[in-house]
Amino acid sequence: VIDRAIRPLRLHDYIGQPVVREQMELFIKAAKGRGEALDHVLIFGPPGLGKTTLANIIAAEMGVKLKSTSGPVIERAGDLAAMLTSLEAGDVLFVDEIHRLSPVVEEILYPAMEDYQIDIMIGEGPAARSIKLDLPPFTLVGATTRAGMLTNPLRDRFGIVQRLEFYGVEDLATIVSRSAGILGMRIEAEGAIEVARRSRGTPRIANRLLRRVRDFAEVRGEPLICRAVADKALNLLDVDEQGFDHMDRRLLLTMIDKFDGGPVGVDSLAAAISEERHTIEDVLEPYLIQQGFIMRTPRGRVVTRHAYLHFGLKVPGGRAELA
Ligand code: ADE
Repeated sequence: VIDRAIRPLRLHDYIGQPVVREQMELFIKAAKGRGEALDHVLIFGPPGLGKTTLANIIAAEMGVKLKSTSGPVIERAGDLAAMLTSLEAGDVLFVDEIHRLSPVVEEILYPAMEDYQIDIMIGEGPAARSIKLDLPPFTLVGATTRAGMLTNPLRDRFGIVQRLEFYGVEDLATIVSRSAGILGMRIEAEGAIEVARRSRGTPRIANRLLRRVRDFAEVRGEPLICRAVADKALNLLDVDEQGFDHMDRRLLLTMIDKFDGGPVGVDSLAAAISEERHTIEDVLEPYLIQQGFIMRTPRGRVVTRHAYLHFGLKVPGGRAELA
């Protein structure tokens, strides 16, 4: 069973994110009632929380087609113009990693979003001129990991901004049970909760761990996944009790061992663990911050007492932020 099959297709199958669900239901209903294209939507949040899934659901609920691309893929203004002029009335254009558009391409988007028009240059030199093309009304759905990475003029042109939050254990367990059903697995509620607890608040990780638990259960001849089976499988995968994986632990332990718990700048940290700065900022640290293991301060990142306690280490005294 491929990934696409376990993604929810409609808003009523979309679990969790109650604020997003309620708002989108309303805005979609209103746009449909007026027979208009939905206003442009910016979705931001850490990887794996369902930004692409939500874009697809928006198109399905609006009853329109979705065309998909991503910021770094659109190299020239003409590439974007070609996509925009091939849209039909009401269609969704999904641009993943929209913060990575080049400035020239971004310029094309402004009048496209505001007035459904594009200015394109034809010819070169003194004979060059710009012509205006009308576009059908369309909905741009942009996705990015952090809203702060967008330029202000681009961010201002989205009428709807949705922020996806990490999922709680209960919602993730519901997602795990739903996916298990689609995959034809038998899982007890306690087994689903165990997978959920250790998925970093992220449906993509929950679904990935679920597949590995299935491998384990099949090979070990366990027809029903209970808490103990899930626990054994997840330990084998090196996912710890808190749901931290190898990289999470490496980041925390490096901060503790090499930087005395911080404060440490993200670039120094990136060099110390041989990772990209953006991987730390977009992938690793959001969950560790949300769980209260790392704090951002004006002087850099610091670990909290929870990090020491997690590794069974003594909490150093005398630091206000560890109180
Ligand atoms: N898969 C990814 N995100 C989901 C969600 N919010 N609900 C159900 N399944 C999902």
